Amino acid sequence: MLFQTVGLCLILTVVPSLAAAPFDCNAVPIALRCQSEELAKECGYSEACNNYFNATEGKPLKVTLLYESLCPDCQEFITGDFYKAYLKFMDHVEFELVPYGNARIENGKIICQHGEKECAANKYEGCILHYMKEPLPFLACLEHQIPLRDDLDKAIQKCYNTFKPAPHVIDQVIHCANGEIGNKLQLEAAARTAQVYPDAHKHVPWLLFNNVSLADSQFFTEQFEAAICTLHNGQKPLPQCTGAGVRLGCPVDLSAEKNGYFRFSPDAKIADEPLKH
Ligand SMILES: *[C@@H]1O[C@H](CO)[C@@H](O)[C@H](O)[C@H]1NC(C)=O
Ligand SMILES: *[C@@H]1O[C@H](CO)[C@@H](O)[C@H](O)[C@H]1NC(C)=O
Repeated sequence: MLFQTVGLCLILTVVPSLAAAPFDCNAVPIALRCQSEELAKECGYSEACNNYFNATEGKPLKVTLLYESLCPDCQEFITGDFYKAYLKFMDHVEFELVPYGNARIENGKIICQHGEKECAANKYEGCILHYMKEPLPFLACLEHQIPLRDDLDKAIQKCYNTFKPAPHVIDQVIHCANGEIGNKLQLEAAARTAQVYPDAHKHVPWLLFNNVSLADSQFFTEQFEAAICTLHNGQKPLPQCTGAGVRLGCPVDLSAEKNGYFRFSPDAKIADEPLKH
């Protein structure tokens, strides 16, 4: 490990500044192209990057989640990585949840993948999302409680006891879930799900970033924080995203260099003691 760390220090410090980029600009991964002004300039991406920054700067990344309430993978995601990311990034990400998933409409009636129970829970969650100002903690609570209790009403009761929403909000949600507003919201969720573009959803959970639906980016459910850090809008990395480089790399500390802790000659022996920073 020490060997690798020292190796990285050497690489970081020894490479002289070159006149031309030491890589093929055509081979720079798209996700990295706007991450350095110098890189963008060197490789001729500046105009595209400026357009991107102009269109997105200061706006939160929008993450849309297509899901259905009784699908175990959705429950696991919503109560796990998705909720963790919500707590961590809520100031920088706009979360949209669409509780419909693989349901379909037959003869004007919504048929849910996991049956009537799921239709009731989807509808209820649609009302939560519509009427609660910060619905995600309550919704994650429900998705946690529903499989534990196997009963929507008991799960709802438990989450009401935990979060104690304002009585008028509870009234609105109940009225919605028992009536036409809830149905209307489900039809809207159905249309939202059907219209994602360019790739239709093939399973749930299914993610969109800034309204773009791609089959090839669904692995991001497994790397959700990395997705947000990579895809967030704006020129500067999010403060929550800057730790990784510090942990992984060997910070260049010129005072240490001056003090002789780094050895640059090719046949330098590896220091016996850990480098001091
Ligand atoms: C981006 O916006 C700035 C300021 O509004 C403007 O000066 C610049 O021309 C815009 N760049 C592009 C590429 O649209
Ligand atoms: C997102 O995409 C849908 C179509 O899939 C469209 O109807 C909606 O207007 C888009 N939203 C935004 C904010 O562009």
